[in-house]
Amino acid sequence: MISSLKNIQSTLSDHATTIQTVFNKHAQAYDQTRRGLIPPYDPFYGTVSQLLRAHLSGPIRVLDLGAGTGLLSGMVLSAFPDASVTLIDLSEAMLERARERLSDHVEAVTFRVGDYAHASLGGPFDAIVSALSIHHIAGEGKLALFRQVFQALQPGGIFINADQVAGSSPEIEAHYRKNWLERVIAAGVTEETLAGARERMLADRMSPLADQLRGLAEAGFTQVNCWFKDFSFAVYSGRKLD
Ligand SMILES: C[S@@+](CC[C@H](N)C(=O)[O-])C[C@H]1O[C@@H](n2cnc3c(N)ncnc32)[C@H](O)[C@@H]1O
Repeated sequence: MISSLKNIQSTLSDHATTIQTVFNKHAQAYDQTRRGLIPPYDPFYGTVSQLLRAHLSGPIRVLDLGAGTGLLSGMVLSAFPDASVTLIDLSEAMLERARERLSDHVEAVTFRVGDYAHASLGGPFDAIVSALSIHHIAGEGKLALFRQVFQALQPGGIFINADQVAGSSPEIEAHYRKNWLERVIAAGVTEETLAGARERMLADRMSPLADQLRGLAEAGFTQVNCWFKDFSFAVYSGRKLD
């Protein structure tokens, strides 16, 4: 456990507790399963860095929602060495791995343990980013989160979410799932890794992409766009005007 982490909440919902428990359990093996379980790994994460570079420069302040082991935060710090990054996550064990990963950036990183769907996000931030986390929140909760994210952004800031989305019909959802399984098996993912992924996926609450883009616009974001899409994997963003 991380003693230096600031625990921002004392009570969690049942669903948040489930997420916390399952990610604490899988934190140790998490990083080594990433490329196998995310077929479009490079363009998926790479699009986030590209979007940040296209819109921002200098010593930016970044919030990473559901930062986990710090994979995305590490990429942000590679692209923006002067950035300061706040990582928030329900799982202390995941953040413990993040602290190890980011040990060369101790001055630049802040860790918060808690549920970002119910915490004050703080800020203002120049960018709020997230990868593979917001899909754990059900539809209405996502829309409420988008409003909080909008409030926490500096005017001129950007929100970027790299995530998995639900198919817009049962048939499309079935294609997404079949395609993912074929690709992870072709990548040589073991039965044990697959079983761990399936256990984590029980906590998923994916929503269709169109609903999320509409929710961003309703929250006040402009230039809302999906930049990357590969079956269920999508990277979208919205800007808060100056
Ligand atoms: C699949 S991992 C992704 C981690 C990291 N962003 C990455 O790309 O590797 C999802 C993370 O989101 C966290 N998470 C899910 N819902 C959350 C919430 N409401 N508040 C804080 N963290 C949450 C989980 O604890 C987990 O560490």
